[in-house]
Amino acid sequence: MNNLINRRNFLKGAGALMAAGSLPISLVKLALADTGRDFTFAYMSDAHIQHIKGDRFVRNWDRGLIRAVAETNLLSPKPDFIMFGGDLAQLGTQPELDHGAEIMSALRYNKVYYVMGEHDYYLDLGKHWEKLFGPQYYGFDHKGVHFVVLNSILTDDDWTYRRWPSGEQRMLEMAGLDNPNGSPFMVKEPQRLWLQKDLEKVSKNTPVVVFSHSPLQKIYKGWNFWTEDAEEVQNLLKPFNKVTVLYGHVHQIQYNQIGNISFNSVMGTAWPWPYPQSYAQAASHLPKLTVQMNRADPFFERDATGWQFINLATGNVDVNYNLYNNAARTVAFNTNTGRPEDSLYQAEKERIPPQTHY
Ligand SMILES: [Fe+2]
Ligand SMILES: [Fe+2]
Repeated sequence: MNNLINRRNFLKGAGALMAAGSLPISLVKLALADTGRDFTFAYMSDAHIQHIKGDRFVRNWDRGLIRAVAETNLLSPKPDFIMFGGDLAQLGTQPELDHGAEIMSALRYNKVYYVMGEHDYYLDLGKHWEKLFGPQYYGFDHKGVHFVVLNSILTDDDWTYRRWPSGEQRMLEMAGLDNPNGSPFMVKEPQRLWLQKDLEKVSKNTPVVVFSHSPLQKIYKGWNFWTEDAEEVQNLLKPFNKVTVLYGHVHQIQYNQIGNISFNSVMGTAWPWPYPQSYAQAASHLPKLTVQMNRADPFFERDATGWQFINLATGNVDVNYNLYNNAARTVAFNTNTGRPEDSLYQAEKERIPPQTHY
């Protein structure tokens, strides 16, 4: 027993050193100072836990989430809380959601927040997810920042309630990426009215951070990198001085600035999506500052997956992407240009060109 405890303590100490060592010095310093809104949180997303049969699940997707949980547990000092960005499950089944929740239960944090993904939702319209994680949309305040969590993956009632003979069929249709039978994601009016009311009590100088699953901007409709009523939601956020939207779903690094709103995506722990072909062909489908990354390396099963360490020292979101290939990337808000920028690949000539895979 003693040996076990000693070994565990040793691993914990060694890991904390390793994790701190892999963060840029500036982030470590920011994380150490704990004043006002100078705080950090960790963000993981898109685990897509997939049930095979009995107690068997797709091992690779399990490993991705288990690794994110283990690495965030090693952070020292600890971030204030953990966010999970949606698509915990692949087909929204109870075994998948329960198994995902069990993996997440290894997190040694008091507070873990969850965003609804379409893969969690369309089997039973979020019933089991709600039992495990609570309401589908909500707000909270933390150290001078107002946070909002939205369910952005709703769609037309006709599609949701009348089109399919069963929840299973509906889920399968929504699970396809470039599926012509799919339906565009929406926040929808009842939630927008709730958001309007929620924001009424927030001062215009309070930094606002919105978590959604789909981007609250229109990037590429064919793959639902898109929210149909994005502009209506953006309008509600316009009066605030500092707004950031953090979203999952796209399984890749994207960042953009529209008016006063900064947009940052997060990676999946399961797999990376490639860039849609239209990214290369139509500039209108490319978020202004997206950096094309090498992907997906068929010989490296964890290519372009990982989790995020986020700091809010300035009230803007700075995202440190901890890729599982150990090549960390930082997208930080540049106050001079007024938008998020990639510290490594911002210059045009340093960007990694899009690749063609055969
Ligand atoms: Fe996903
Ligand atoms: Fe998704």
